[in-house]
Amino acid sequence: MKRSTLFCAWALFALIATSFADESSFSAFTDQEATDIVSSIISNTDGVKHPILFVPGLFGSQLEWKLDPTKTACNKTTKGTYEQCWIHVSDLLPGQDTCWVQNNVLGLSADGITTPRDGVETRVAFWPLVKSVEYLTDTRVVKNVAYYGHNLFKLLRAAGYEDNKTYLAHPYDFRASPLEYYQPGGVLDKFATLVEHLYATNGNTPVDIVAHSMGCLVTTLSLGQQTQAWKDKYIHHAYLAGPPFGGAPKLAGAVINAPHEFPLVPPVYASEATFIPALSTWCGGIWLAPDTGLLTKDTHLITHAGREYKLSDMGLFLNQAAAAQPLIYQCFKQTRGLFTERCKHDCAPGVDTTILYGISFQTQSSFKLTKGDFGDPLLDIQAEVESYVVGDQTVPVDSATTLPKRWAASGNHGHSVNFVAVENVKHQDLVRSKEGAEKLYESIFG
Ligand SMILES: *[C@@H]1O[C@H](CO)[C@@H](O)[C@H](O)[C@H]1NC(C)=O
Ligand SMILES: *[C@@H]1O[C@H](CO)[C@@H](O)[C@H](O)[C@H]1NC(C)=O
Repeated sequence: MKRSTLFCAWALFALIATSFADESSFSAFTDQEATDIVSSIISNTDGVKHPILFVPGLFGSQLEWKLDPTKTACNKTTKGTYEQCWIHVSDLLPGQDTCWVQNNVLGLSADGITTPRDGVETRVAFWPLVKSVEYLTDTRVVKNVAYYGHNLFKLLRAAGYEDNKTYLAHPYDFRASPLEYYQPGGVLDKFATLVEHLYATNGNTPVDIVAHSMGCLVTTLSLGQQTQAWKDKYIHHAYLAGPPFGGAPKLAGAVINAPHEFPLVPPVYASEATFIPALSTWCGGIWLAPDTGLLTKDTHLITHAGREYKLSDMGLFLNQAAAAQPLIYQCFKQTRGLFTERCKHDCAPGVDTTILYGISFQTQSSFKLTKGDFGDPLLDIQAEVESYVVGDQTVPVDSATTLPKRWAASGNHGHSVNFVAVENVKHQDLVRSKEGAEKLYESIFG
């Protein structure tokens, strides 16, 4: 969340985008490469082509909004229709970005429901078509480097999967509080509707779920709502890539402006000054602050003013450090325990499950304040990273694996739990990059 994310130096971005557009690390499979990979992976599966539901992660879906100019910041209008707002490059150009931020500030009700700014109606674009998650922007020029599902989808297409038919996506408003997911017709109900639809339109074939990052949490909560009989009928297997069940200390660091990257679609980066005011109101992101109940060790988080904060002091830390932004603590408090106290059997999914988790990168774990004081406006605080643990650069290994190990230990309602350690792929690249997409494909079909 927060200063986190993407962008801002858009002029710079355009420059970088142009220079990377053709090759290098921001590269997409050619048709030939996709065909070669697909034919080199010898299938161990049952020979049935299971339809696939892809559930994207934080920041991983196109969003659009309709703005009423009589109520919105800067009198901004979309002329009565929906327009792309995540990500629409011209909204984020210097001079326009203040309006974007102001219109993107969210509120939170006492029972954990996200409230948009007056005059702003936001929705997910193209749900449930793969277009919603293949590229994060439709802005010309930039589009071809702003891909997310594209490389994975290229492999699926080479394997005979058909867009909008044998595979669909379940994008959701990643900014919103997860408590909203439980509402009738909300994110969890829609998940079930889509699974049933894929099953029925593909000859009553059980569905594979492929989820990334926060999408793994959405998947787990969705399955937690269903009966075992429903799951046995409709689900074949769930592949969860980089699940931050225990959260990411990096998000605590982000609150106090420790340096970090949250690149979702490199090379797009955020300017903290521009985005903090909006991102620090996105409860969906704050949800991912660490949860000691789902980590193996209660390690040190930060020392400040003579006091030692451990991960288990996260609530206190957020309450004090971000006192100028009380919504952060409110959201943190309201979203605890969704996989434990508030979900039976530790939310064991009760379907065959594969956990893919990264093991090759230093992942931020504790911080030191270098400027400002707890309670100051967030923009006035600065921190640096003090220590790292092993993970995928965003999610520590224990955050991804502690909960699934419990599922394995308690039997997962008679279903398997497999673990696949993924080397040399960063968190945001688990789906996006060629290497990530290939590893994911291999774990599904190999
Ligand atoms: C927005 O429009 C209202 C009238 O509808 C006007 O009073 C106000 O000054 C405008 N604000 C900006 C920032 O243009
Ligand atoms: C899937 O749906 C999108 C959005 O309607 C459309 O642009 C695209 O052409 C469709 N893909 C296929 C293969 O039909």
